[in-house]
Amino acid sequence: MPTIAFISPKGGVGKTTAATILATQLARRAPVIVIDADPNRPVESWAKLAGAPAQLTVVSDVDQDSILDQIDTAAQAAPFVIVDCEGTASLTVAYAISAADLVIVPTQGSQLDAKEAARALSLVKKQERTSRRQIPHAVLLTRTAVAVRSRSLVHVQGELQR
Ligand SMILES: Nc1ncnc2c1ncn2[C@@H]1O[C@H](COP(=O)(O)OP(=O)(O)O)[C@@H](O)[C@H]1O
Ligand SMILES: [Mg+2]
Repeated sequence: MPTIAFISPKGGVGKTTAATILATQLARRAPVIVIDADPNRPVESWAKLAGAPAQLTVVSDVDQDSILDQIDTAAQAAPFVIVDCEGTASLTVAYAISAADLVIVPTQGSQLDAKEAARALSLVKKQERTSRRQIPHAVLLTRTAVAVRSRSLVHVQGELQR
């Protein structure tokens, strides 16, 4: 506990990057298990490089049949579980959402990207209905300048808050 899932049906929005940064920072203080739920296994490849934190463990070989058990086992073994999902809207992603204490939807600030983030948020809403519980979730704006908020970014933020 807690389990934090990074989801978006769009590839390249920063799920793996954000998940890896969060996992790395948490692993400086406590054990972290990353469930690498992308069949391309980006976190597993990254963790093989020199410099990955000692307290960070990666679980791969994840599919829709195994993910709930893998999350439960990880949550019993480590204080933080991070799930990095594939850029699709699959059953595996739906299960990751349903098992999460927090869902993070990374998105870039363009209108096209925001449409995909809205799809991800509607997936969270559906899982809230099926599991009959609130699932805390947040949109993470990636590759946006902190100091400069373009008109399209302001518009996108407004749309996603509705
Ligand atoms: N906040 C960021 N700033 C700059 N580049 C980023 C950021 N987040 C991701 N990237 C880059 O964008 C690309 C896709 O990121 P990735 O995390 O693999 O996305 P996803 O997991 O959603 O497919 C990578 O090349 C990554 O280095
Ligand atoms: Mg990824």
